[in-house]
Amino acid sequence: MYLVTGATGVIGRPLVAALLSAGLPVRAVSRRPDAALPHGVGLVSPEELDLADVESLFVHPRATKDYVDDLLRRAVAHGVRRVVVLSAINADDDPSHQPSRYNGDRNTEVENAVVACGLPWVSVRPSSFATNTLAMWRGPIALGDMVFGPYSAFTEAVIHEQDVADVIARAMVDDALDGRRLSITGPEALSLEQLVAIIGTALGKPLRYQEVPAEAAASAMVAHGLDAGFVHALLSRYARELERRPVVTDELATVLVRPARSFAEWVEDHRKEWS
Ligand SMILES: NC(=O)c1ccc[n+]([C@@H]2O[C@H](COP(=O)([O-])OP(=O)(O)OC[C@H]3O[C@@H](n4cnc5c(N)ncnc54)[C@H](OP(=O)(O)O)[C@@H]3O)[C@@H](O)[C@H]2O)c1
Repeated sequence: MYLVTGATGVIGRPLVAALLSAGLPVRAVSRRPDAALPHGVGLVSPEELDLADVESLFVHPRATKDYVDDLLRRAVAHGVRRVVVLSAINADDDPSHQPSRYNGDRNTEVENAVVACGLPWVSVRPSSFATNTLAMWRGPIALGDMVFGPYSAFTEAVIHEQDVADVIARAMVDDALDGRRLSITGPEALSLEQLVAIIGTALGKPLRYQEVPAEAAASAMVAHGLDAGFVHALLSRYARELERRPVVTDELATVLVRPARSFAEWVEDHRKEWS
């Protein structure tokens, strides 16, 4: 049995799909008893987790951070053969430089718990998800042809969530990856300005990224309800990394023996969500 925590989320859903398409039996963990999951997938709540027949366990850091130690103790007791954890490419950075920590994520701690648990493990450390662009820009793009934001030249290699899920699925079945921290990224680094232009091309609607001063952007983001600490850490990261060579790795291509999906492909896969 392949047990997936965080199964209803951004990474969990494509992971469940990837495991099913490989013909593997899947049990999903969700706090919601009415969670809609593909046919044949068993559903359990975090409180009623049974690990007796589990061969491979996926630990989602956001979903399990409050019970990961207990989960791993039980995994060891039941002889689970492998644990794969989702982490992040910035997991070794100074905690104050990790924006997601301000929203409560604890990727480093959950990864450390998995590494220390005594079972064979793999950590999958993705770059920023391409889907973050929907959260940032869906509103302005639905309403007009201009996106206002800071640091138009900030560049990173955003990754398709299906690619993250495909690497996790491979790590759950392949013992050749045991003990590895896999830093995975999209295939090419693109600036914020380029990402917006690619969305525009895919939607057949010319779009422009209009840079605004960082202070004005920060105020607008906080006014929209984002945590002030998160906003400060995110914009500090943009400023800090503006002059650095962006990180693009080939680990995904090596593991999956195919290139990472492009950002244009990601937009195409999410076309309906932009309107
Ligand atoms: N966004 C990025 O660019 C990026 C990049 C690298 C790494 N990461 C890391 O990846 C993780 C996010 O992955 P994701 O987008 O797949 O997560 P997600 O979709 O937000 O959450 C996955 C599932 O976890 C459960 N969940 C959500 N919040 C929870 C909470 N506060 N307590 C308990 N359960 C909760 C929900 O399931 P139920 O409601 O069904 O229980 C949800 O469907 C974070 O740790 C993040 O730091 C993100």
